[in-house]
Amino acid sequence: MVKVTVPASTANMGPGFDVLGLALKMYNVYTFEEIEEGLIIEGCPEIYRNEENLVYKSFVYTAEKMGKKIKGLKITMDTEIPVSRGLGSSSACIVGGVFGANALLGGGLSVDEMFVIAVQIEGHPDNIAPCVYGGLTASIIEDGKPYSVQYSISDKLKFCALIPNFETSTAEARKILPKVVSFKDAVYNISRVSVLLKALETGNLNMINIALKDRLHQVYRSTLIHECDRVSRICMADGSLALFISGSGPTIMNIIIDDSFPNKIKDSISKLEHEWEIKLLEVDKEGVKVENLSPEVIV
Ligand code: HSE
Repeated sequence: MVKVTVPASTANMGPGFDVLGLALKMYNVYTFEEIEEGLIIEGCPEIYRNEENLVYKSFVYTAEKMGKKIKGLKITMDTEIPVSRGLGSSSACIVGGVFGANALLGGGLSVDEMFVIAVQIEGHPDNIAPCVYGGLTASIIEDGKPYSVQYSISDKLKFCALIPNFETSTAEARKILPKVVSFKDAVYNISRVSVLLKALETGNLNMINIALKDRLHQVYRSTLIHECDRVSRICMADGSLALFISGSGPTIMNIIIDDSFPNKIKDSISKLEHEWEIKLLEVDKEGVKVENLSPEVIV
């Protein structure tokens, strides 16, 4: 039996659309066990307990890549990452399935090889990379192959997510984006991503605030997030240093240094029409973790 623990992640981070990602200390835990036959999935709603389950599909995809077969599989889930909220839940499922298959079936894949497989399943690397490697990552794809590098991030920075009780679909949030952007806007974003990475490393708050601005996606996507402006105004008025839409939304992520921020915004946020969970999150620097729970398993 193997246990795979995967972190949540926040992608894009303002100007770094489809490039930047950051792993956060909020986890999904999956255990994988070979059984005599069939598929048993426990720990998730009934609608996900079938062969369409993304953890299972990613496991099977990886097993096929490795040329391995399994008689039957039991997957048990203990999940913290909310679904369809822009916190990397689908990447967590995929990374869980890929690393679970390799560990349980003794595939001998390297972490980098599993990263490539996970991106093949997901389609873009910005949530997969932090989920696999931990910390702050930037990714590119060249000739269909993903590459990722890690950046340091100042320990003084903390993140506070505002997670609403409604979902947005990534497909919808991608459809709403323009097909073409101006040269000026492209330069606006490229320059900010470059400066943002250094500012996050040094913890230069003033610079982070300026460099987090974006012209490629957030202005369009904010229209899909109810009360986006009101939430942003409350957060900025009460001490958020900078904020951005987490992934394709609807979660709004704040960068803070003061632990009392959640308390300060609590009352105003509770008066909004929708429910917004306020969650203080620290950076996960480790990425996915695999443990053997039975001695006979070959890793
Ligand atoms: N970069 C992706 C997007 C993240 O913003 O659409 C969500 O998968």
